[in-house]
Parts: sequence; structure tokens; C-alpha cells
Amino acid sequence: MKYVIINGSPRKKNTWAIVKHIQSNLEATFEEIHLKDYNIPLCNGCYNCILKGEKYCPHFDKINTIMDKLKSADAFIIASPVYAMNVTAILKNFIDHTAYLYHRPEFFTKKALVVVSTAGAGQKKVAKYIDETLRHWGVNKVYKIAFACGAKESLETKDIDKTAIKFKKDVETAKMHSPKFGDIIFFNVWKAMAVGENPIETDKEFWINNDLINHDFSPDVKLGFFKKIFSKLMFNILKRVM
Ligand SMILES: Cc1cc2nc3c(=O)[nH]c(=O)nc-3n(C[C@H](O)[C@H](O)[C@H](O)COP(=O)(O)O)c2cc1C
Repeated sequence: MKYVIINGSPRKKNTWAIVKHIQSNLEATFEEIHLKDYNIPLCNGCYNCILKGEKYCPHFDKINTIMDKLKSADAFIIASPVYAMNVTAILKNFIDHTAYLYHRPEFFTKKALVVVSTAGAGQKKVAKYIDETLRHWGVNKVYKIAFACGAKESLETKDIDKTAIKFKKDVETAKMHSPKFGDIIFFNVWKAMAVGENPIETDKEFWINNDLINHDFSPDVKLGFFKKIFSKLMFNILKRVM
């Protein structure tokens, strides 16, 4: 199994110590991406990625290097410390560069583990934000480790190990999980927009070329009967209101 790790901390300390510990549970191949070393300029809000296609991002070379690594992975580990009750600026800047994935999700067969460390507050909220981001990318299942370092002198590893082992087993089975209702709604928002009256052409091409417009969710992920009906219903409602 190959795991790509995105380290959103500008240093290799508390968050990285947790990631290192998790690695010892996974027995796999790892590719490390330390965002600090990529020097990605700030997203300048040009909208090119969304409207024209991600290749037109002025920082495409750097973003694409990371995207290629993510595409080649079985699973991701995304790590960040809490900075002012949010992710670090370098991770947020990277996430901003992935805004096109919210329109054109790609990672339906991937699983991810989110790792957040903090002095004392914000860890759950920040882990939830990264989880939501990954779900917008299409990621099938997200595990979370949110750790408060506080005055602790060493890592309390029991809960970390438990989650890491669950994550490992899940990645190895390659079993696809049924999406949440919220994921189905978002799938249909973008699908309805792509086939609506004035679609963004890049979105339309993506949804047609990947044959997603003929499915209730990614064909890689099975939907049960009720979720299928829910998805069809959502699409019909959204098509009318978009
Ligand atoms: C700029 C900055 C902002 C921070 N903001 C918070 C915060 O809002 N809440 C908190 O509990 N800890 C905060 N911290 C503490 C870090 O989240 C914590 O020490 C974390 O474990 C550092 O991880 P690292 O060693 O990977 O950088 C902040 C630290 C820095 C440097």
C-alpha cells in the first residue's frame, strides 16, 4: 500500500511526531509532502482552475506535482497543527488551490486519515474542516485523529494506534463505503450545475467525459436502494432550481 502524507505544519515537531507514530502502525510505502518546501504562492483568486481548467492555474506545476502523487496513492494522511483555531496558512493555501475539485471531484476510491495537533483547543473543529474538504474532493472514507498536546510530556498513543489500525485495515480491504447523504447532495449539486442551462464548460466536459452524469454517484461506489432513490430525487429537485 502506498500512503501520501501532506504535512501542513511548517516544522516537523508535534504533528509530525504523531504522523511518525502512525507510520509505525501501517507497514507500507510512504511519500512525504512537506508543504513548506513547495513554496506555493498564494491563490490569487483568478478563477482559472474553476472556469478554464486546473491546467490554467498560474501555480499548476507545483499543484500538479502534488496531485500526481495523490492520484498514485492508495490513501492520504493530511496533517496540520491548529493555528488560531484553524488549519495552518500553508495547508489552507493548498486547499484553496484545489477549489476546482469541489466542482469536479476525483478521489472517489481514496481513503484518508486526518491528523491534527493543538496546544489545547480547536483540534476537533479543524479535523472536521479537513474531513469536509476531503469529502468535497470525493474521498470515500475519512478517519480523524485530533490530539491536544497540552502539558503532556509524551504522546498518549492508545487512541492514535486504535484509529491508525482501523485505517490500515480499511485501506487494505479496499472496500468502498456508502456515501453520506450530504455527499450525495453535493454530488448532485455539481451534476445538476454541469447539465444546467449555463454550465461551466469545463465542469460539463468533466461530468460527461467521466460518465458521471449517467450515475447517481461515482460508479466506483455502490449505493443502496434508498440512497439511489434519494440521489435521483435530489438531482431532479436541483436540476429545477439551478
Ligand atoms: C501561530 C500559531 C497559532 C496557534 N494557535 C493555536 C490555537 O488556536 N489553539 C491552540 O490550542 N493551540 C494553538 N497553537 C499551538 C499549536 O497548535 C500546537 O503547539 C501544535 O501541536 C504545534 O504543532 P507542530 O509542532 O506540528 O507545529 C498555535 C501555534 C502557533 C505557532
